[in-house]
Amino acid sequence: MADKLIIFDTTLRDGEQSPGASMTREEKLRIAKQLEKLRVDVIEAGFAASSNGDFEAVRAIADAIKDSTVCSLARANDRDISRAAEALKGAKSMRIHTFMATSALHMEKKLRMTPEQVYEQVRLAVRFARKFTDNVEFSPEDASRSDPDFLCRVLEATIAEGATTINIPDTVGYAVPEMFGNQIRVLRERIPNSGKAIWSVHCHNDLGMAVANSLAAVKIGGARQVECTVNGLGERAGNTSLEEIVMAVKTRRDYFDLEVGVDTTQIVPASKLVSSITGFPVQPNKAVVGANAFAHASGIHQDGVLKQRDTYEIMRAEDVGWTANKIVLGKLSGRNAFKQRLQELGIELESEQEVNAAFQRFKDLADRKAEIFDEDIHALVSDQAVHHEADEHYQFVSMAQASETGERPHARVTITVDGSEQTSESEGNGPVDATFKAIETKVGSGSELMLYSVNAITTGTESQGEVTVRLAKSGRVVNGVGADPDIVVASAKAYLNALNKLHSRADRVNPQAGV
Ligand code: KIV
Ligand code: ZN
Repeated sequence: MADKLIIFDTTLRDGEQSPGASMTREEKLRIAKQLEKLRVDVIEAGFAASSNGDFEAVRAIADAIKDSTVCSLARANDRDISRAAEALKGAKSMRIHTFMATSALHMEKKLRMTPEQVYEQVRLAVRFARKFTDNVEFSPEDASRSDPDFLCRVLEATIAEGATTINIPDTVGYAVPEMFGNQIRVLRERIPNSGKAIWSVHCHNDLGMAVANSLAAVKIGGARQVECTVNGLGERAGNTSLEEIVMAVKTRRDYFDLEVGVDTTQIVPASKLVSSITGFPVQPNKAVVGANAFAHASGIHQDGVLKQRDTYEIMRAEDVGWTANKIVLGKLSGRNAFKQRLQELGIELESEQEVNAAFQRFKDLADRKAEIFDEDIHALVSDQAVHHEADEHYQFVSMAQASETGERPHARVTITVDGSEQTSESEGNGPVDATFKAIETKVGSGSELMLYSVNAITTGTESQGEVTVRLAKSGRVVNGVGADPDIVVASAKAYLNALNKLHSRADRVNPQAGV
C-alpha cells in the first residue's frame, strides 16, 4: 500500500502573516470548517500566545473541528507552549508545533543566543510540550541555511525528547529543489533516531520554488508531510500552495506513489473563501484555482479538447471544484430554498437571525440582479461576515456619484461614524477616486492606499464586483473587501472595511520575531 502524504494547512497561521491578511475569529472559524471539509490532515489554527484574539481563534477552532488535527504554533518557551496547550484543550486531536531558529545568522543576530543555549532550550521545549500531548512537532527555523552538523544534533535531541514530527522550514525561500530534497534525505540518513519521527517540509516561495522544493523533499528526501496554504498565501511571496501540491501528487500518482486524503472537489470553494475573506485575489493564470486554469483560448487547443479532453487537459475542472455558472436562485425564491442552498454549499450561519439577515441581503441582490449564482451567495455571506459587526465604527449607508465625459466625476457618500450619520462630497479623477476622497473628508484616516483591485464574481456584465482595498498606516497594513453589483458601491464598502480594520484591530505578533 502507498504511503500517505500528510497535508498540513497553515493558511490560518503563516497565511495570516501576509500583509493585511489578518482575520477575525469568525473568519478563521469559517475557513477552518472549509479546511475540515477539504479533509486536510492538520489545521494550524494560529499562534495562540501571539495575542488574545489568536488564542480565542485557536480555541474556537479546536472546539469546533472534529475530523482534522488542530495545531497551534508556539515559540520554544514554557509560556507559549502552555498557551498553545490551553487553547487546544477542547480539540479531539491536537498538536503543539514549537520552533526555534538554528542558523548561525538567526541565532547570533536575532536570538542573540549561542548554539549550546539553543540546543538546551529546544530540548526543554519539546520535553515540556510532551507533558500536554504526544503529538509534538518541532521546526528548526531557517533550517535550509543551518549548519548540517548542528542541525543533526538538535534534531536527534528533539526526537529523543519526544518530537513526533520534524519539520524542515525553508524560511526565506532560499532552497533549490534537488539540494533541498537531498538535505532532507541526508538528515534522515544521518540522524540515528530519524525513523521515530515523520519528516515534514515548510517552504516559502521567494524564488518561486516552494512547490518544487516541497515535492523534491517528498520524492528525494522521503518527507511525508507538506506544510502549505490555500492559494499559496503567506509571508512575503507566500508558502507552498496546497492546491498545487495536492493536484501534483494526485495527478502524477504514477511518479509519487502516495495517498492524499484531501477531497479535491472542495479546493475551489476553499480558494474562493480564503480569497474573499483575506482580500487576496487569485491571479487568473494561477495553477488549479486561477480563473483561466481550465480555459482554452487557442483554436487548436479548443478543437483538441472538444475531440478528446485529455489532449490538452491533465485534470478535470470538476474534480477540483469548478462548477459551471448555473443559475441557482432568483427573485421569487423563498427563504426555504435559500436556506437549503446555503446547506448544499456547506455554509453554516450561526443563528436564525444571521440566516434572516443573509436572506434579506439575497432579496436585495435579487432585486438588482436577475440571476443569482453560487458565487453570489458565497460573496453575500462573506460580505455579511465582514460588514455585519455591530461594533463597526464606519458603516456604509448610501451614495450617489456622477461621471460624464468632459466633466470631473463627483461622489456624495453617506456613512455612519460610530452610529451617527454623516454625508460628505468630493470630486476626483474617477468615480472611485471621488468616492474615497469623499469618505476621507469625513474620516481623515491619513492612511496610504497600497492596492485597489476589482474582480468580477461571476461572468457577464451583470456580475457583482468584488473589490479589495489595501491601506497602510504607521506600519500596519490591512485589506478591506466589499461586494456589490455596483463596483463603486463595492469600492466604498471595501474602503470602509479597511478603515474599520485600521480603527479596531490590534496587530498580531509575528512568530518569526524571535523568542
Ligand atoms: O517559515 C518558517 O520558518 C515558519 C516556522 C515557524 C515553521 O513559519
Ligand atoms: Zn513560514
